[in-house]
Amino acid sequence: MFIRRASRPLRNLQYVTQKYSKETASHSYVLDQIKDLAPAISHQTNFVTDRAQGSYIYDDANNEKYLDFTCGIGVTNTGHCHPKVVKAIQDQAGKLLHGQVNIVNHAPMGTLIGKLKEKVIFDKKLDTFFFANSGAEAVENAIKMAKHYTKRTNVIVFQGSFHGRTVATMSLTTSKIIYRVGQQPLMSGVHVAPFPYCHHCVCNSKPSHTCGDRIESDCCMDPIKHLKTLFKQQTSPQETAAILIEPVLGEGGYVPAPKKFMQELRSICDEHGIVFIADEVQTGFGRTGKYFAMEHSGVVPDLLVMAKGIASGLPLSGVVGNKKFMEKSPVGSLGGTYGGNALACAAACGTIDAIEEEGMLENATKMGEYLRGRLNEIKKKHPSLVGDVRGEGLMLAVEFKSEDVGYGFSSAVAKNALKHKLLLLTTSIYETLRIIPPINVSKEEVDIAVDILDKCIEEAKADIKL
Ligand SMILES: Cc1ncc(COP(=O)(O)O)c(C=O)c1O
Repeated sequence: MFIRRASRPLRNLQYVTQKYSKETASHSYVLDQIKDLAPAISHQTNFVTDRAQGSYIYDDANNEKYLDFTCGIGVTNTGHCHPKVVKAIQDQAGKLLHGQVNIVNHAPMGTLIGKLKEKVIFDKKLDTFFFANSGAEAVENAIKMAKHYTKRTNVIVFQGSFHGRTVATMSLTTSKIIYRVGQQPLMSGVHVAPFPYCHHCVCNSKPSHTCGDRIESDCCMDPIKHLKTLFKQQTSPQETAAILIEPVLGEGGYVPAPKKFMQELRSICDEHGIVFIADEVQTGFGRTGKYFAMEHSGVVPDLLVMAKGIASGLPLSGVVGNKKFMEKSPVGSLGGTYGGNALACAAACGTIDAIEEEGMLENATKMGEYLRGRLNEIKKKHPSLVGDVRGEGLMLAVEFKSEDVGYGFSSAVAKNALKHKLLLLTTSIYETLRIIPPINVSKEEVDIAVDILDKCIEEAKADIKL
């Protein structure tokens, strides 16, 4: 049958109509299928996306874009789909997807170790590497290494910390009850010491001063006294394998541990032969303006756990430490099918190249200062609402005065932000927003986000009639 070709304007119209109906159909199809996901998975938004670039995520079906100041919970530090990361993945994908680490030695892993040693790891003592897939898996492996090395059973963690959702890591987690509810009894041998969270200090009788605005804050150091009490009442140093800490509390409220607190922990670990483990899953890969937040305190941990930002969105995690802390683990006791996957290692190489070649650490420091300044303006403008602005680099938090604004205020602000096309996350049991832009964010994007945030606080305030 002879079909006449449509005229150009008509062809364009047909194309647009087909494209639109195809996309809207797929949009509702996707939402329909996602309804069958386990109800325990929460959802902050209800749009469908399959495209993101830089600081933005696109909802093509509704022709909208969202400024992403969540970075997929601190993962896409180099922005979504950074061209150097995408190219590294594309180049690798055609060559080798899976080269199992117990069976072969694959090139991307060797290249990654070389780049980590040369550019990323800040102390020569940290010379041995282990790779896994998720943050929780890497934390668990670090604990196993510490137990193998010390032949001791117990671990000290800090109140408000988050280390994952597996059985072992939820036992190490005390940020929110939801992560452990209904799961007792948990892994034994875990003891909880207070984190130096000055704004809600559980040690100092007068927690009136603002929280460690910076890593140099004037902490009362009472949390160290409590830790030493723990040694006398709950776990002796001789049975303590490891002290595990996030240098900036993540899920617990974006609270930097003061430098002198970290230094004191280091000397306690040295005195008693306890393994110092830094969980840098969320703080790593440029988030605080350095590759790792430990660099701010000058303290070198024995084992450092990394994940999230390492591969810009592909699942990869790792532990780095001095060889002496890993060589006591018997061959075969650590590992996994996918750990250090070839594609993920290639993505990590692309990530390091992008960070290095585009000065992203410097940008994170500069934009972190700028964003902090703008958030402090908001604090000044809303003194009855905002109690604290804190963090390090581009890992910043705005904590509202929980007693005055009431439960749910920070979630209301985040919901308002979504209406204004800004993605934000809350954190901690207090009314706190975390601000996590890509580390290559521009000043213009920071200004857009802060202006929206300001508007959203006004709206939430009006809603609760403060
Ligand atoms: C500090 C910290 N440790 C561990 C984890 C667990 O990482 P994953 O979710 O990749 O298992 C997270 C995740 O948010 C984290 O922030």
